[in-house]
Amino acid sequence: MTAPALAAYDLTGRTAVVTGAGSGIGRATAVLLGSCGASVLCADIDGTSAGITSAHIESEGGAAWSTAVDVARREEIEGAIDEAVTRTGRIDILANVAGIGEQMTALADVDDVILERVLAVNLKGTFYGCRAAAQIMSKQGVGNIVNVASSVVDTPEVTGLTCYGMSKAGVVQLTRSLAHELGPSGVRVNAVAPGFILTPHSSRHFTDAAGRIDEEHRDRFLKRFRDVSPLGEIGDPTDVAHAILYLASDASRFVTGQVLRPNGGQAMPG
Ligand SMILES: NC(=O)c1ccc[n+]([C@@H]2O[C@H](COP(=O)([O-])OP(=O)(O)OC[C@H]3O[C@@H](n4cnc5c(N)ncnc54)[C@H](O)[C@@H]3O)[C@@H](O)[C@H]2O)c1
Repeated sequence: MTAPALAAYDLTGRTAVVTGAGSGIGRATAVLLGSCGASVLCADIDGTSAGITSAHIESEGGAAWSTAVDVARREEIEGAIDEAVTRTGRIDILANVAGIGEQMTALADVDDVILERVLAVNLKGTFYGCRAAAQIMSKQGVGNIVNVASSVVDTPEVTGLTCYGMSKAGVVQLTRSLAHELGPSGVRVNAVAPGFILTPHSSRHFTDAAGRIDEEHRDRFLKRFRDVSPLGEIGDPTDVAHAILYLASDASRFVTGQVLRPNGGQAMPG
């Protein structure tokens, strides 16, 4: 790789806020952005996990700190973004990674409490983060927002994830609308739509309430996703983190309003 290509991924002097940074894709993203030189605020509803991520970044020589934030509570995510700006004077990157999903549930059995929580975290939480960051980024004249959708928006034939799918389809539309609105202010907005990535979130499909894994169900479940990938693989959190890094860096200078699909070819929409 030539030096200019590497320079496009250099995030030195930039501030990143990563939600859901305590686990899975969010943790991998925070660590990767930190390794590229960004100062990273690791935000998660689980403040202890977020602290483990920020401590890891610091132990590798990076700059990071953490905060407990429920993204579904507008004042909490706004407060986190304000804190990042107060501390570093700017916000260059917002990665809206925090997300939840229901257990696979037939429509007739969907509980209103679950419906409201999934929409509140995945859709409204992403909206609140975008709105708070966009105001500051527009004034700066530069900034990057990366939202996390899901390949479920490409594969609605997956039954039982109606609330999750609705929320993630909304995230895609939010991304496109904001890309239009914010582009003239120098702010890019993109999304990733990951395929199956093995994390605590995706393991819920074969884990019971006591945390016990049904191994037979797991093996069948994972095989199903491997079988629909031309690569014959399921993904790792770092596969998504690299896609987010690309969208958050100058390497994607001419990319906005797009959905990048780190999904092993599990879905190939035209
Ligand atoms: N794992 C997959 O197969 C997959 C596929 C497509 C999309 N995604 C999306 O990727 C994102 C990350 O998922 P993951 O697989 O890394 O899950 P994960 O469960 O490993 O991590 C999610 C993190 O978000 C945090 N979180 C949950 N609710 C929150 C809230 N209200 N406020 C702040 N933090 C909150 C959790 O504490 C956790 O640390 C989610 O948006 C998910 O929908 C995951």
